[in-house]
Amino acid sequence: MSSESKNHRQPVRSLSRKQSENHFVEAQTCFPGGVNSPVRAFRSVGGTPVFVKRAKGAYIWDEDGNRYLDFVGSWGTAILGHAHDEVLDFVKHRMDNGLSFGAPTKEETELALKVRHYFPALEMMRFVSSGTEACMASIRLARGFTGRSKIIKFEGNYHGHGDMLLVKAGSGVATFGLPDSAGVTSGVAQSTLTAPYNDIQAVEALFAANPGDIAAIILEPIVGNAGFIRPQKSFLSDLRDLCSREGALLIFDEVMTGFRTHLGGVQALYNIKPDLVTLGKVVGGGMPLAVYGGRSDIMKMVAPLGSVYQAGTLSGNPVAVACGLKTLEVLGRPGNFAQISLRTQELVTGMIDIAAKHQIALQADHEGGMFGFFFTKSPVFNFTDAKKCDAEFFKKVFHALLDEGCYFAPSAFEAGFVSLAHKPEDIQNALSCFDRVLGALK
Ligand SMILES: Cc1ncc(COP(=O)(O)O)c(C=O)c1O
Repeated sequence: MSSESKNHRQPVRSLSRKQSENHFVEAQTCFPGGVNSPVRAFRSVGGTPVFVKRAKGAYIWDEDGNRYLDFVGSWGTAILGHAHDEVLDFVKHRMDNGLSFGAPTKEETELALKVRHYFPALEMMRFVSSGTEACMASIRLARGFTGRSKIIKFEGNYHGHGDMLLVKAGSGVATFGLPDSAGVTSGVAQSTLTAPYNDIQAVEALFAANPGDIAAIILEPIVGNAGFIRPQKSFLSDLRDLCSREGALLIFDEVMTGFRTHLGGVQALYNIKPDLVTLGKVVGGGMPLAVYGGRSDIMKMVAPLGSVYQAGTLSGNPVAVACGLKTLEVLGRPGNFAQISLRTQELVTGMIDIAAKHQIALQADHEGGMFGFFFTKSPVFNFTDAKKCDAEFFKKVFHALLDEGCYFAPSAFEAGFVSLAHKPEDIQNALSCFDRVLGALK
């Protein structure tokens, strides 16, 4: 952050991103949209994506040498900040033993025990390589266990890119306004029923219309992929009761919220025990590792114990497991999670105050190290509400903040993330930028 950022009368500046522009041109000859995951392409906000050269702590540096205060954190993964010294040392040390064995290691069990310590609902679990895989596997398992075919998901919730979950999905699908993905057969899509988030009556109606057919409800218990949306009143416990009554499984997709909203995830915050849980992002500390698991009677159906097949060459990869182990150890040290929560609270309350000062309508919320904001007057309870936000204004704010050296998610429908590396002065600097940007744009 330059010293300019302290001077509120300075006009919003503009950074040169020549190198990023050049790399983007070349990347587009290799990758669709120049990227390996759609939201990275900046399509919904326009402009050139920042090509990252390196990252340390709360900051990333681009190929042009610009430094940004990072509120994306590899989409929630980097909870300790980037390239945490202790994690790097531990991972480097483990790498000397080899990169991948395709055979069990004792460290996998060590990590599983740590995960179960924080998430007792994961009586048994499997390690996979991505949140997508975790969610796909949990749906297959729910169908295998119940012998039923249909699932319920919520509009704007994102559970990775498995065919059956790309129906009214959030994240990039929402960002680009895609109804559903081409290539998903109608047969598959028909088995996925959708309801508005926070609408228990709509879910009850789906059960009534599909008696004995619904295998599971999957949801983001706090939504991050349609922007940040919190469950209202008894929504989660009502879903729990409904699933128990109807013989369907309740799947909490905590790929984003696990270890992020609370060390024990949203299930600990709201005291709900799901039947199955998916985890990702933080659990691998920046390496490709995700988890699905839950009730042991259900998990015992997974091969080789049972008839539901799921496997992976790189599942439980020793380097990723080492990274997850050290990340969770550091995160779990006394005071660390509380510090992340406090910084996040400071950021969000500061943003609310600044928006009020400039008379700009803003809805913002946070939990643990995760936050979100919508430029809209009315509270946001579901994806329809979220879509009423002023996405055009968001674009301007996004670019102005980027030019100020603050890297927020390039979409009005993504959450933001604060790490252990964010210091009080980082938050104050980000708030100064926000103040100046809103002042210039209102
Ligand atoms: C809630 C949720 N579930 C699943 C996924 C998919 O995880 P991955 O991108 O690791 O496949 C994501 C990714 O952002 C997510 O936020």
